Amino acid sequence: MTVADAVARALDGLDIASARTTYWDQNEFLSLERWLPPALVEPMVAEVERVRPAINRNFIPRHKKGGSVSFYTLLEQAPTIVGLYRAPAFIEFLSALTGRSLQPCPPGDPHSCALYYYTEPGDHIGFHFDTSYYKGARYTVLVGLVERSSSRLVCQLYKSVPGRAVEERALTTHPGTVVFFNGDKLWHSITPLGENEERVSLTLEYVTDPAMHPVKRFVSNMKDAIAYFGFRRVFLDSRKATRATQ
Ligand SMILES: [Fe+2]
Repeated sequence: MTVADAVARALDGLDIASARTTYWDQNEFLSLERWLPPALVEPMVAEVERVRPAINRNFIPRHKKGGSVSFYTLLEQAPTIVGLYRAPAFIEFLSALTGRSLQPCPPGDPHSCALYYYTEPGDHIGFHFDTSYYKGARYTVLVGLVERSSSRLVCQLYKSVPGRAVEERALTTHPGTVVFFNGDKLWHSITPLGENEERVSLTLEYVTDPAMHPVKRFVSNMKDAIAYFGFRRVFLDSRKATRATQ
């Protein structure tokens, strides 16, 4: 079965109108528990193992600790993951939820489609928004792939809605669970990993307008180099990826 077929099958079983209502009722947040089929999850988990040698680990005191593999490596070695990221039916579904025309990030963005590995005790990420550096809005899809941990994706809904109480959800991101949200609206974190535990998630980023001011691109690249993927991946491989997809 192709990636596109597997995505289409998952979408067939979903009531899109009611998913859209829930998404908006929750201030642009939706969680679909164990939604992606094994035909997609199994090859993606195999790709998680294949790209393990490329993990770049980072530690920023009081904010984050963990490993990541950037889009550039996935482009070379993870066809199912990249296939999901680019699947037209999946992008149409996300556009239908938001009511906006979404598209993948431009090829020079290492975050656009990336794996995050929580493998050592205490690996975590503190509360943050997935703030958009693009001219338009940025949306995040988080897919659970490996879940052998007590870590939780803690989400605070309605964080910046005046007069509305914050509602907190602590989610276990099981393999195949899909969480989708507007990066400027959902305040979220991953709680610290325990001993002998492991958690791997995939994030896919989509934008309404892929343009970015050059100064913001530089700030975004510096942040990615320091906090996530390392300088070589961010500054050298982005040129390679841009050339490869032109
Ligand atoms: Fe995030």
